[in-house]
Amino acid sequence: MSNTKQMPQEEGIDHSLSLIREGYMYIMNRRHSFNSNIFETRLLGKKAICMGGREAVEVFYDTEKFKRKGAAPNRVVQTLFGRNGVQALDGQIHKHRKEMFMSIMSPDEIEKLIDILKIQWQIAANKWEQMDKVILYEEAKEMMCRIACKWAGVPVKEGKVKMLTKNLGAMFESAAAIGPKHWLGRHARNYIEIWVGELIDKVRAGKVNPPENTALHRFAWYRDLEGNLLDTETAAVEVINILRPIVAISIFINFIALALHHYPEEREKLKSNDEKYAQMFVQEVRRFYPFFPFVAALVKKDFTWKGFKFKEDTLTLLDVYGINHDPEIWEKPELFNPDRFAKWEGSPFSFIPQGGGDYMMGHRCAGEWVTIEVMKVSLDFLSNRMEYLVPEQDLSFSRVSMPSIPHSKVVIKNVKQKI
Ligand code: HEM
Repeated sequence: MSNTKQMPQEEGIDHSLSLIREGYMYIMNRRHSFNSNIFETRLLGKKAICMGGREAVEVFYDTEKFKRKGAAPNRVVQTLFGRNGVQALDGQIHKHRKEMFMSIMSPDEIEKLIDILKIQWQIAANKWEQMDKVILYEEAKEMMCRIACKWAGVPVKEGKVKMLTKNLGAMFESAAAIGPKHWLGRHARNYIEIWVGELIDKVRAGKVNPPENTALHRFAWYRDLEGNLLDTETAAVEVINILRPIVAISIFINFIALALHHYPEEREKLKSNDEKYAQMFVQEVRRFYPFFPFVAALVKKDFTWKGFKFKEDTLTLLDVYGINHDPEIWEKPELFNPDRFAKWEGSPFSFIPQGGGDYMMGHRCAGEWVTIEVMKVSLDFLSNRMEYLVPEQDLSFSRVSMPSIPHSKVVIKNVKQKI
C-alpha cells in the first residue's frame, strides 16, 4: 500500500492576486488555516507548492531535489535579477560562478568596504547636521550607492550619483510591483545594464582600469568552466548583482532607525559598544522586519518527502518571512528581542532572512556577511555617534507591499554628532 499523502489544497483557478494582496503573510496565513507547513496552490496559472518550517528549509536547499533555472517569474528577472545571472544557475556552473562572488567577500575585501563605509557615514553625518530634515531612506540609498560603486571599482562622476541611486533603487523597489512602477524598474535595469556593459567593454579594452580585486575587474575577466569570458550583458548583470543589493541595505538601515525609535531601552544596551550585542541587535532586525517574503525554486526530479509527492518542474516557494516568525523556531516571535540570539544555535536552516543552506553549493545570499557588517557600522553611527529627533510621522510599515519600507521613510531632524 502506498504511503503518499495529499497536501492541503487551496481551491480555485489562480491565487496570484491573493499573493500580491497578502504579500509577506500569504503563505503564513494559509499555513495557519490549513494547520500545515505545506500546501498546494495555483500561481501564475500553474500548480505551486508553498512550504514553511525548519525541515522544509533543509529539503528546499537540497540541490539534488530543487533547481533554480526557470524558477523566477519573468517580471522579477526583468527588474530584480537580470538574465543569466547566478540566481538562475544550477550545478557546477553555479558553483563556479558563486566561487567568484564569494572570493570578493573575503575578510580583507570586507574590511576595505567598511573603511569606505565609515568615511561615507562621516560625510553624511556632516551633511545632515546642516539639513532641516533628513529622509533617512533616501539619504541612506544615496550613501550606499556611493559605497557600492567605490567598492566594486565602478567609476562614477558626482553628477551621476543621484540618477544611479534612483535606477538601482527602482530595481528592488519595483520587483513585486505591477503597472507603471514595474515599468520604471524595467527601464532602470535596461539603462544600468547598458551603462555597466559599456564599462565591462572598456575594462577589456584597457580603457578603464579598476583595482584588481574589485567586482568590476573580477567579472570583466572571469572565465567560465570552459575558459570563456562572460558575454558583456551577463558580466554586467553580475556586477549589478553586487551594486543593487548593497544599495538595498538602506532598507535595513531604515529598520535599524525604526527599532532604535520604538525600543529606546536598546540604546542604553548599545552604549557600551559591545560588539556581541550589536551583532545580536542586527540579527534581530534581520529577523523581525520584513524584507524578502519567500524564495522560489523548481522541483528538479520527482521525489516524495514526508509522504508528499513533488513532481518535476513544480514551482515551490519557501516562506522566508514566515520562518523568521515561526513560533516553533522562535519564542514569542512577535517581540523584538535581540537577546534571543545569545541562545541561537547558528543553524543554516532556522534563520534565513537572506536564504539558508550552504553559500557555495546553494543559493544562500553571497552578500550576507557584507550586510551584517554594514548594518553594525550603521547601527553604531545611529545609536552612538549622533543624536537626532524623530518628529511626528507615519512610521508604520506594511506586511503586504514588497519590499516593505516604513511609510514616512523615517524622517529625522536636528542631527548633531556626539563628540
Ligand atoms: C540588503 C539585504 C539583503 C537581503 C535581504 C538579501 C537577500 C537575499 C536572498 C533571500 C537571496 C536568495 C537566497 C536563495 O535564493 O535561496 C539572496 C541571494 C543573493 N544575494 Fe543577497 N541579500 C541582501 C544583500 C546582498 C548583498 C549586499 C549582496 C552583494 C554584495 C548580495 C548578493 C546576492 C547574490 C549574488 C545572490 C545570489 C546567490 C546565488 O544565487 O547563489 N545580497 N539575497
